[in-house]
Parts: sequence; structure tokens; C-alpha cells
Amino acid sequence: MEGLNEQMDRLDKELDGLNATSAKEAEELRIHWLGRKGFITQLFESFRAVSPEEKRRLGKPLNELKNKTEEKIKKLKEQLEDANESEGFDVDPSRPVRPFHPSVRHPISQVMERITSIFQRVGFIRSEGPEMEDDWHNFTALNFPEEHPARDMQDTFFIDSEGPAMALRTHTSSVQIRSLEKYGAPLRILSPGRVFRNEAISSRSHCIFHQIEGLYVDKGVSFADLKQTLLFFARELFGPDARIRLRPSYFPFTEPSAEMDVWWGLETETDRRITKGTGWLEILGCGMVHPQVLRNVDVDPETYSGYAFGIGMERIAMLLYGVNDLRLFYENDLRFLEQFK
Ligand code: PHE
Repeated sequence: MEGLNEQMDRLDKELDGLNATSAKEAEELRIHWLGRKGFITQLFESFRAVSPEEKRRLGKPLNELKNKTEEKIKKLKEQLEDANESEGFDVDPSRPVRPFHPSVRHPISQVMERITSIFQRVGFIRSEGPEMEDDWHNFTALNFPEEHPARDMQDTFFIDSEGPAMALRTHTSSVQIRSLEKYGAPLRILSPGRVFRNEAISSRSHCIFHQIEGLYVDKGVSFADLKQTLLFFARELFGPDARIRLRPSYFPFTEPSAEMDVWWGLETETDRRITKGTGWLEILGCGMVHPQVLRNVDVDPETYSGYAFGIGMERIAMLLYGVNDLRLFYENDLRFLEQFK
């Protein structure tokens, strides 16, 4: 049988070749060598049984072997820690990255932000209303006659309900009524939002689209104020050379009413197509708030007057970004959306 001396010699040699590639391995080595049943511990057990003479001879080298083992394992652990620190993580940084889609704001949201910030600079405050409306806020209070075609099933999405008749709002003008009812006059609000019309979907129209409503009611508000505000808006959005024109129009809730065009140009075939050969492009409806509308919300038209406008956001986004099919805005195709960084 191998004597204590030989065992010590063998372990001493083995010790020199010890290595560990992970903290876990180093800890396993410590248990194997210095644990309660480890090699060195066992040597000490055997040591107790040897003769006094051998004890004298082997006591010192045995203690040295123990110290050497402790040193060795401590060193292995330190080396592994150092290596870990310098690399920091267990990842190959040269590997190609996964396809990554940084988020981009939807072009309609970007246009909405731009337009609202222009009007906020001249004192308009945001005010929003619900997308599901009753007849009063969407039509009656806005002075739509009982038999007006806009109330027709063809244009409006009605909602089946037990209670009062409800519909998806056909324009953001409903927020004029809601805000005046809530805050009274004077008032200056801007209301962006989604609107719904039962229309055939094509490259130029959709059943869901977005508008921004503006309303200003105060003492002595005139059509000149409206025109100047809209000119300011057009120049801020399209540049200092922007030109606008107002054409007479009709809305039941404004009198007089107008539609505003911006000068687009008439140089290329595309200009011709987009502007139907006129060079002008219609982007909004507007007018002076009808006295009956003010009466409907308990504002005295003898004291107060106001103007309102409703801007079509898709139209403007198409113009600003050169998009020729409105449907692209609703398809959520990343190849389209990622172009609006
Ligand atoms: N609500 C009108 C529309 O949807 C636009 C408009 C708003 C006109 C405000 C005048 C005043 O076409």
C-alpha cells in the first residue's frame, strides 16, 4: 500500500498540473482537495495514525503541502476573476446584429404634431372630444337642417344601441359644440382627431381619416382675423413663400363659409394631376361661426363672434411627403412607415 510519504509526493506533483476554466471548476477543485473528505484532509487523517518518528519527519512537509494547495487554488480563482473582469460578458461582439426596427412616428402623427405646434404658438389650446357622438353634437347643434343629406345613411356610420341614436363622428366640428358647452366664451381651441365617413375607399378617399378643428370665439373676432391666422399657418407649414386663396363655400355651421387652397404649382404633369389642372390644392374648410350655433350653446351672438376651420390631415401629409395613395397611411407596412424617420 502507498505510504503517506508517497501519497504526499504524488499529490504534490498533481498539484502543479491543476487547472480550472471556470469559477465552478475551481470551487470543485477546492472541495476535492481541501473539503471535509478532500485529499489533504485525508492525509491529515492518515498522519494521526503514523509512528511518532514519522510524525516528526512528515509533519512539516505535510503542512507545507496544505499551504501550497491553498495557495494554488486561491491563485486559480483569482486568475479566473481577472479574466472575467477584462472581458466583462460572455458574448461575441463581432456577431452580426439581429434585424432591428427603430420606432418611427406615423406620418399622420408627425403632421398632426407640426400643425398643432404652429397653432399653439398663437394661443390655441388642445381640446378633444369622443369619436362616438350623438346627433346633437355632430349635427343638430351645428345647425344641420333635419333633412340635410349629411345625416343620410350613405355618409354616416350609425351605431346600433338601445339608448339615444349614436354615430361615429363625421367631422371634428362636434368638438366646437362640446368645448363651448363646457367652457363658454371666450375660447380658443384646437382639436385634432379621427373622423369617419361611409365612403368608398380609393387612392383619394377613405372611410377613416383625420382632421384638425380650430375655433376662436371672442368679442370682435372678424373674417380678417381668420384669413390672417390661416395665412400664418400656411407660411409656417409650407414656407414663407406659401400662397393661399379663399373660395366661397357652404357649411351649415358657418356664415360666410369658405374653402382654402394653397398654391401648389403647375409645372409638371404630377402638379397638373394633383391640382386637377388649376395649380391650387384645397386643404381646409372654414368660416365665421353661425349665430344659431352660438345660440345653441348659450353664447350671445350680439356680444361674441368667432371663426372656425377644419383641416384635412391626410391631404397635407400627401402633399408634404409626396404620397400619391392615401391607403398607404393605413396599411401599417413597415417598408412604407420606415421612410418617415
Ligand atoms: N367640418 C367641415 C368638414 O368636415 C370643415 C369645417 C370646419 C368647415 C370648421 C368650417 C368650419 O368638411
